[in-house]
Amino acid sequence: MMDKVRIYEVGPRDGLQNEKTIVPTQTKVALIDLLSNAGFSHIEATSFVPAKWVPQMADAAEVLNGITRAKSVIYAALTPNIIGYEKAHAAKADEVAIFAAASETFSQKNINCSIAESIERFVPVIERARADNIPVRGYVSCVVGCPYEGEIDPEAVAKVAAKLLDLGCYEISLGDTIGSGTPAKINAMLKAVKEYVPAEQLAGHYHDTNGNALDNVKASLAEGLRTFDSAIGGLGGCPYAPGAKGNVSTVKLAQMLDSENYYTGLDFDVLAQAETLISTLGEHHDR
Ligand code: HMG
Ligand code: MG
Repeated sequence: MMDKVRIYEVGPRDGLQNEKTIVPTQTKVALIDLLSNAGFSHIEATSFVPAKWVPQMADAAEVLNGITRAKSVIYAALTPNIIGYEKAHAAKADEVAIFAAASETFSQKNINCSIAESIERFVPVIERARADNIPVRGYVSCVVGCPYEGEIDPEAVAKVAAKLLDLGCYEISLGDTIGSGTPAKINAMLKAVKEYVPAEQLAGHYHDTNGNALDNVKASLAEGLRTFDSAIGGLGGCPYAPGAKGNVSTVKLAQMLDSENYYTGLDFDVLAQAETLISTLGEHHDR
């Protein structure tokens, strides 16, 4: 029997958040509606962050209210704090994600607080989500490298991942934010993290800046991971990580998994339509 891999589509959020030109809400809705027919169990639709931090996500509520929801799909949103959580819940996000970093400088630049402060900030989010029966995913950014601090110690990643798990996240997504990972670095990082978090509760979130993302996925498969984040068309980046390029492309990831005999359940025809739709967005590949 083929081993199953879950691909968590983050294009509408991580993919679009870095686009310089504001993408019209209807285009975002059309993209999510198309992706809803591709066979994903999860689509990260948007994020509830102040518009002054990420202008592209200012229409988060309109996006969630505008989409036609497929029963089989869980629509997720990033929530950096309780204000974001309340807005996401009001807009009926099915799942939320909190996001921390393994690098102090990145934490300050991205969410304006230290790692320890961010964990404190997440406590009320988790409490409210638990009361509302909303699953919470946790991200750790800069799991191998940081745009400000360089190489990151695997033990630092493991500690933050363990904290997010203890808080109550059902899954920890490990972000190679700037794509500086190599199979050897990913391997060392995963070995450290797995001391605290089982592989079944880990996801690989690999940006493809240096073209290593697919090899990093292969290294992670060997470590037992079966969930990977990707963005349609390889869109993406992070506005607070200079030079960060797109997430690994969903189609390339699904093709690689297919050729390695893993089952993703994705429909390549629908994915091709979604790629065509976003190809009109402009020059997203050269940043
Ligand atoms: P802050 O400015 O320190 O927040 O930002 P604050 O609590 O001082 O509030 C300032 C103002 O914003 C107040 O309004 C708040 O009410 C309001 P004012 O009194 O000035 O009128 N406010 C909000 N409004 C809407 N939604 C909210 C919200 N919160 C406060 N949620 C904060 C702190 C965490 C909010 C900010 O730094 C932030 O949102 N940062 C997020 C930046 C971001 O979205 N980065 C990209 C996502 S992370 C990523 O891409 C990495 C990932 O893909 C994994 C990987 O690749 O590594 C996940
Ligand atoms: Mg990312």
